[in-house]
Amino acid sequence: MKRIVIAGVTGSIGTQAVEVLAGNDAIAIVGMGAGRRAGELFDLAAQAGVTELALAAERFAEQVPDGVTLRVGVGSIEALISELKPDLVLNALVGYAGLSVTRSALESGADVALANKESLVAAGHLVKELAAENGCEIIPVDSEHASLAQLLEGVAPNEVSSLTLTASGGPFRGWTAERMANVTVEEALNHPTWAMGGKITIDSATMMNKGLELIEAHHLFGFPYEDLNVLVHPQSIVHALVELADGMQLAHMGMPDMKAPIAWAVEGRTRRNIGVAPLGLAAVGSLTFEEPDLTAFAALPLAIAAGSRGGSAPAVLNAANEVAVTAFLEGRIPFGEIIPLVAGSLGQLEDLPGSTFAELDEADSAARALTAEAANAIEVGA
Ligand SMILES: NC(=O)c1ccc[n+]([C@@H]2O[C@H](COP(=O)([O-])OP(=O)(O)OC[C@H]3O[C@@H](n4cnc5c(N)ncnc54)[C@H](OP(=O)(O)O)[C@@H]3O)[C@@H](O)[C@H]2O)c1
Repeated sequence: MKRIVIAGVTGSIGTQAVEVLAGNDAIAIVGMGAGRRAGELFDLAAQAGVTELALAAERFAEQVPDGVTLRVGVGSIEALISELKPDLVLNALVGYAGLSVTRSALESGADVALANKESLVAAGHLVKELAAENGCEIIPVDSEHASLAQLLEGVAPNEVSSLTLTASGGPFRGWTAERMANVTVEEALNHPTWAMGGKITIDSATMMNKGLELIEAHHLFGFPYEDLNVLVHPQSIVHALVELADGMQLAHMGMPDMKAPIAWAVEGRTRRNIGVAPLGLAAVGSLTFEEPDLTAFAALPLAIAAGSRGGSAPAVLNAANEVAVTAFLEGRIPFGEIIPLVAGSLGQLEDLPGSTFAELDEADSAARALTAEAANAIEVGA
């Protein structure tokens, strides 16, 4: 039986993975890790019969249930993985904190079903090297990337000319930057097609999410940025497209439901009925596509520029974005300041070669400090 550890189990992806795996007798969840929500972690573990747990937070109010072994503190999920040595780790943490989980999974010889795109954005070249050194696979969970991986199966690499990620356009599709500048947290969290965690939902509203995904796709599939496209598709039915040498395109379609890519990734690239609503194209009626507005959504060209710069620039982009998004969610800066803050940090920090994880940690810390300082200088409503 295949053994899996779910890291970030209390989140949107993590809880859906527990649901999916409840219907699969061939995979045993042997460990679970979370950030701060101890109560939710204990409930999910009881539901799935898991006793080996880790919580990144040191302090929590709940009683540890009988029979449970709980590791606590920063690094505890990584310790859980190296102790249990599972076959597979689902990394569903949000943010740069997920990079060390990806690393410990690969170092312990586990394949990684990767939802934590920030691992690849910040350190894609090093993560890929580590996977190769340890003979491990990285299987994408992000819907567009899982779609691309499925489309690319069985197509000769030299027959592919470009890859396209679709984007819903978020809640502010068609808006100008001025109109978006002072939207509320509630408006920005109101995603039209996907129900997700807070950080990725804000990233979808700024379209930074698509920028991060382009960097992720570059590392996963080895395509240069000029052969990676974004197409806005508000219905979120077509998840990705592969353009072939003969001018034809392959599309991967389905209802927007993360359970499909989660199941495909954790269940060894296989497919079964997991209760995703069938796609009725006649009921959907029409599928529409448009070019992204790169002026209103400046995050996209910013991310492409950081990805093309390479070295520590994508780690800086990611860290500055995490800090700015948190500041917005906490009501400390207006929505319209998120991307200028990221651009500011990218402009001010000198690139490091990014040839070691330690160097990327250094770039991450420097970007966090600089962006936090700049965010503090902004007054909401000013
Ligand atoms: N949600 C989606 O539909 C979706 C789709 C595609 C890709 N993704 C990607 O999947 C990842 C997870 O997204 P999500 O929406 O599931 O996020 P989420 O709902 O916010 O969940 C995040 C998870 O990470 C844990 N966590 C946060 N900080 C941590 C830390 N410092 N140490 C240990 N654990 C920590 C949280 O634990 P606590 O809650 O216990 O604090 C929670 O379990 C992100 O990289 C996102 O971009 C998500």
